[in-house]
Amino acid sequence: MCGIVGYLGQRDCTEVLMDGLEKLEYRGYDSAGIAVFEGRDIKTVKTRGKLTAMKEKLEREGRPQGHCGIGHTRWATHGEPSDANSHPHSNGRVTIVHNGIIENYAELKQFLTEQGYTFLSQTDSEVVACLLDYYYSERNPLHAITETLKELRGSYALGIIFKDFPERVYAARCGSPLIVGVGQGESFIASDIPAFLKYTKDYVLLEDNEIVRLDTEGVMFFDVHGIQISKERRIAEWDVEQAQKCGYPHYMLKEIHEQPGVVQKTLDSLTKDGIPDFTDIGLTDDMLRGFNKVFITACGTAMYAGIVAKYAIEKLARVPVAVEIASEFRYMDPIVGENDLVIVVSQSGETADTKAALELAKERGAKTLAVVNVKYSAIARLADICINTLAGLEIAVASTKAYSVQIASLYLLAFRFAYAREAIDADELKRLTAQLAKTPEVIQNIIDRCDECQFIASQLVNTETLFFIGRGFDYALSLEGSLKLKEISYIHSEAYAAGELKHGTISLIEQNIPVITIATQSHIIEKTISNMEEVKARGAFVIAICRKGTTFADGTVDLKLELDFGELNDMLVPLPTVCALQLIAYYSSILRGNDPDKPRNLAKSVTTE
Ligand code: F6R
Repeated sequence: MCGIVGYLGQRDCTEVLMDGLEKLEYRGYDSAGIAVFEGRDIKTVKTRGKLTAMKEKLEREGRPQGHCGIGHTRWATHGEPSDANSHPHSNGRVTIVHNGIIENYAELKQFLTEQGYTFLSQTDSEVVACLLDYYYSERNPLHAITETLKELRGSYALGIIFKDFPERVYAARCGSPLIVGVGQGESFIASDIPAFLKYTKDYVLLEDNEIVRLDTEGVMFFDVHGIQISKERRIAEWDVEQAQKCGYPHYMLKEIHEQPGVVQKTLDSLTKDGIPDFTDIGLTDDMLRGFNKVFITACGTAMYAGIVAKYAIEKLARVPVAVEIASEFRYMDPIVGENDLVIVVSQSGETADTKAALELAKERGAKTLAVVNVKYSAIARLADICINTLAGLEIAVASTKAYSVQIASLYLLAFRFAYAREAIDADELKRLTAQLAKTPEVIQNIIDRCDECQFIASQLVNTETLFFIGRGFDYALSLEGSLKLKEISYIHSEAYAAGELKHGTISLIEQNIPVITIATQSHIIEKTISNMEEVKARGAFVIAICRKGTTFADGTVDLKLELDFGELNDMLVPLPTVCALQLIAYYSSILRGNDPDKPRNLAKSVTTE
């Protein structure tokens, strides 16, 4: 939800900021802008549209020349995407960029209007610039910031420059991520590490209610009262390559192809001597034995990974698992407490609703376990126990490899859960873990079938609506397949438990409506085939995604993608199968002329409610 950057150093600031914004564009792409000191003046260039529009504007109007500045890429919340609503916002002696939502902006705006301030935009963010200016006196920026922060309610990561200080950038955060990059004679602020990875791997995480000052002396940190504090430096494990397309036309395709490697890496990191082992992260068999129930809460794709995990944990460990949408869980007064395990799943580790659900679970005394892809993210640090998935940097807005590593690690958790509760013995634990270890190879075989996925996509390109159906694990996977397809192709799609269709939705089946049926689960395949026949009888165009060798009666299926899972247990096939669904979604998006990396209206990191 918006990306912010800031730079102070000897390089061409415009280039550094634009570079950083390009890496953060996944966070929002409604508009963009930069403000750079040219001598003692601040030159601001901003425009509605993606960064390409910004680049064109810089060409037309001239690039600001300087060494200190801030930049922003926007995902609109308050006020439509327009030039005026684009950041940076300036008022008086202050220019800011903001990621988050100022919840009390209306009352602050009224107060500031009464003090004589006028507003140029419809954003909530502009009040921050005005308030900072209001509190700015005696050339003391830190005082202005600490006073302003006292007044703000909501979430923010702010980059701030003061006209009187052409060699300084300030930043502060509460609820939205902000990282400080520390290079040789230069420093950076950014919403995410890739924005400055090209220049330095050394970084410091700013916590809520902390302030940082970049100046020619280096970086200095302060608490909310303006008292200087010291902070731990870390070194980023990601490298520059991860933030590049490396010859692929889109990040999404690159990330799909990375799945065999990242699944392997994640599995290796969580197994010892051929069995899952979570003792290093503090999760013991004793704990797993003691839980009465399990909740899994997350948003979007991460929540759908949770549904696969529910099926696996319940099947193997015989412990009840409820999967709840995080934005519901946080407000539904859930019956959760001590002796319950709450698992939160998040790629970014910053999703506002997931974080709030985690906070609630902690308040209620439940044990909390986070499955998170970004080390040291807010959720990773907040949970009692954390499984770090090793997908590496995921840039495409549509999540692919993060989902795969989420379900891979949750399978291992299900196995260990079952073993700890004596629902399976040590031999079975080893056997299941060995089966899972084969999935990277199976995934590779499926990714190699991208031509067939592209052909299926070509059959969907002119449809406006379609359905995914499946039972059991196939249903869990249908939810993810449908989300992936709709979010980047803009084809309306719904996922249904195959047996549920006839309870209402089947009335929507008409001649040639595509129904993608996932039919991999042997024990219920006949039931699924009956459902395929029901839709076929009503004119549907039936596409079957099934195990190699599955047979259907003549005329049931119009198109078939047979996948070779080898000897893989039915329970594990969602892991390779999802790759075929991702490829179908990817090619559907391309064939419809969309940009799969940046689907409309979406942002990768949803740090507001
Ligand atoms: C869809 C997608 C989203 C995210 C969701 C949660 O492709 O990426 O549905 O899964 O916004 O994000 P994280 O996992 O970062 O909490």
